[in-house]
Amino acid sequence: MKEIKGTTAVCGLIGNPVEHSISPIIHNTLSELLGIDLAYVTFCVENERVGEAVNGAYALSVRGLNVTVPHKSAVIPHLCAIDPLAEKIGAVNTLVRCAGGYKGYNTDMPGLYRALVSEGITLEDREVLILGAGGVGRAVAMMCAVNGASRVYLLNRTLEKAKEVADEVRERTGRDCIFAEALSDYRSIPKKPYLVIQATSVGMFPHVEDAVIEEQDFYEYVDVGVDLIFNPAKTKFMKAAEQAGARTMNGLKMLLYQGILAYELWNDVKVTDGQAKIVYQKMKEAMNIHE
Ligand code: ATR
Repeated sequence: MKEIKGTTAVCGLIGNPVEHSISPIIHNTLSELLGIDLAYVTFCVENERVGEAVNGAYALSVRGLNVTVPHKSAVIPHLCAIDPLAEKIGAVNTLVRCAGGYKGYNTDMPGLYRALVSEGITLEDREVLILGAGGVGRAVAMMCAVNGASRVYLLNRTLEKAKEVADEVRERTGRDCIFAEALSDYRSIPKKPYLVIQATSVGMFPHVEDAVIEEQDFYEYVDVGVDLIFNPAKTKFMKAAEQAGARTMNGLKMLLYQGILAYELWNDVKVTDGQAKIVYQKMKEAMNIHE
C-alpha cells in the first residue's frame, strides 16, 4: 500500500455501483510505476447528486475523475468545457481539472482504438460490423467513421434504433459509410470477412451462455472478433468466432488503454508499452484471468 502523505493528490471514479471497479488497480499501479504521488479511489454517486459530486470534487482539489455508468452523459452539463470527440459521442468518462472547472473527455473510444492498434488491428479502409446500437455501439460506430473505416454495418435487434444512430453518425462525422441492419437480417450483408465488434451486454457475467447471435453461420463473416466484454475473458461470441477460424480479442485492453489515456491527461505524462504491459498483468491477476 502506497504511503499517503500531505502532498498526495487524489483522482477517482464516480459511478453507481463502483465497488467492483478495476480502475483503482490501473491508476494506483501507474502511480507506483511512474513514481507519481497520487491516490485513486472510487466514489459511489447517486443519480441526482452528480452535479454536487463534480462541484464538490473541484472544491476538494481532486485532480481528475473517471465517470462510469450511469453518469457518462449526466455529467456533461456540470463541465466547464468538453473535448470535441466526447461531444460527438455524447458521453464523457474522464474529467480533467482546469481553471474554473473540469473539462470532459472520452477516452473509451481512443482506448479501444489504441487497444486495436496494440493488437495490429487497423480501421483505415476496413469493413466493420458492429453488433449493438446502444450507447456503446453508437460510440464505436462514431469511432469507426472518424478513423477511416470504408464501410460500417450497424446491426441491432431493433432496426429503428440502428437507423437513428446511423443517421446521427453520418450527420456528425460527414461520412457516408454507415448502414443500419436488423440483427436477424445479417444474411443480407455481403458475405466476406469483417472486423466484428460486439458492443451489446449480451454474454456478460453471469449470462455467460448467451451470445447476441447464436447461429453458427454468422461467424463465417468474422475475420477478427472483438468483444467489448471482459468478464468472462472469453465470451460465447468469442468462442463461436474462434470455432469459425477467426482471431478474437476481449475488452480488457480497451479498459487498460482508456485508463492509461485518462492517466496521461491528468498527469501530463506518457505511459510506455512496457508499463502498460505491467498494468495489464496486474489487471488480469486481480480478475483471476489466466491466459
Ligand atoms: P450500452 O450503453 O451498454 O450500449 P444500452 O444503451 O442499453 O447499453 O444498449 C444495449 C444494446 O444491447 C442495444 O443495442 C440492445 O438492443 P436493442 O436496441 O434492440 O434493445 C442490445 N441488446 C440487449 N439485449 C439484447 C438481446 N438479448 N439481444 C440482442 N440485442 C440486445
